[in-house]
Amino acid sequence: MKDLSQIKKIPLTDADAFVDIVANAYPGFRIISPEEKKKTRRSFIKLLRNPTIDHYGLYRHGELLGGMRTYDFAMNLFSMKTLVGGVGLVAVDLLHKKEKVCKELISFFIDLYRKKNAPIVALYPFRPDFYRKMGFGYGTKVNLYKIKPGDLPRGTSKKHIRFLTGRDRKAFRKCCYQYFLKRHGMFEIKKHEIDYFFKYPEAKTVVYERKDKILGYLSFVFEKTSGDNMLRNNIVIRELVYENRDVLLEILTFLQNQLDQITQIFFPTQDDFFHFLPLDPRDDSENLIPIIGHQTNTQGIGIMYRVIDTRGVFKLLENHNFGNQDCRLRLFIKDSFLKENEGQLIVHFKGGKPSLKRHADFDVEVNIDIADFSSLLMGSVNYHSLFEYGLSDISDERYVDTVAKVFGVEQKPICHTIF
Ligand SMILES: CC(C)(COP(=O)(O)OP(=O)(O)OC[C@H]1O[C@@H](n2cnc3c(N)ncnc32)[C@H](O)[C@@H]1OP(=O)(O)O)[C@@H](O)C(=O)NCCC(=O)NCCS
Repeated sequence: MKDLSQIKKIPLTDADAFVDIVANAYPGFRIISPEEKKKTRRSFIKLLRNPTIDHYGLYRHGELLGGMRTYDFAMNLFSMKTLVGGVGLVAVDLLHKKEKVCKELISFFIDLYRKKNAPIVALYPFRPDFYRKMGFGYGTKVNLYKIKPGDLPRGTSKKHIRFLTGRDRKAFRKCCYQYFLKRHGMFEIKKHEIDYFFKYPEAKTVVYERKDKILGYLSFVFEKTSGDNMLRNNIVIRELVYENRDVLLEILTFLQNQLDQITQIFFPTQDDFFHFLPLDPRDDSENLIPIIGHQTNTQGIGIMYRVIDTRGVFKLLENHNFGNQDCRLRLFIKDSFLKENEGQLIVHFKGGKPSLKRHADFDVEVNIDIADFSSLLMGSVNYHSLFEYGLSDISDERYVDTVAKVFGVEQKPICHTIF
């Protein structure tokens, strides 16, 4: 089957065919009427002008059977600005599902970013297990809290908070960039993402400004509560960014002040400690999880990462300090989807600094699948858990702690980019 396939950038002449495939593959997008299809076509054409985004289609016998959108992202990988490939909008013609169209598209996507020297790719899965089999590892989970405004801390000031205005573009962009530089896992914001804050009236954005600098922002939409009372609304947070605790406290004070009209604040966050922030972190379910656990939030798997060049990633991170450890490690990576990436590599860590060796001695050998290795390298899982769950074997159990420290992180990766 593979020989028959051709993958190429989708030309404008096939825009309608691609829109039809997407409309059927994602019924939830509700691209049904001719107007809705035209709108999708327009956004496809608009994105053609963006040099960091491409659409590829898989053709057999000249017929478009599926496609995807690829993105060049700059990611903060342990403070190193790194090219990361993203893929989204994977869509296969309903008549040609289970014919390995998706598999070939993902293989092509991985090859494309190997050629661009990107060591890692990422995606948001429609089904986590489907992409885990292809070597993508789970990232940090996303939590959704529903907090009553009155349960948030009310600080002493909100004097630096104001609405974002059209004149703030430069300062706003700078704020986004500073945050990107600060947090492992963040992607640099793209121009069309910045437009969202300025162009869409439903998105309310308040900023924290001090000495002409924007040091944080909160973007949200209002949503009606489920009841009939049009005077009661919820706030749904789209994004919260803050440089330091003063900024956070003022933003929280702003939110706390909405308590007379707002029933709940929907807080999506990848912060595992968020439940310490509100006085009462419970959601409105009143569920008691056995034995006595008050339900606080719902959780889900979002972004997934895949290392596509295991050697390359260690070379790139040659100045990164892997937990201050001294250890000679042989990794055996299993990668059934990308055979070029499978095999062993020896890394000597000295004071945490890694150096790759072709043939050298080692103290300990670790066997691990590329999906879990990707999560381990990014810091979204610790080695103790992978070992305990039987997801990785080690030649000498006395080294479990050392390996856990090598890949240990202070802060798990976070990502605010949806694609
Ligand atoms: C989800 C969707 C993209 C799947 O597309 P598809 O073309 O039917 O999928 P494929 O036939 O390529 O199936 C994947 C294949 O890769 C194979 N595969 C996965 N990991 C593998 C590995 N490590 N080594 C070898 N093969 C592997 C799977 O076994 C499967 O083949 P099989 O069906 O013979 O078992 C398609 O159903 C669709 O368009 N859905 C709606 C839109 C959507 O949800 N998109 C995804 C958004 S992220």
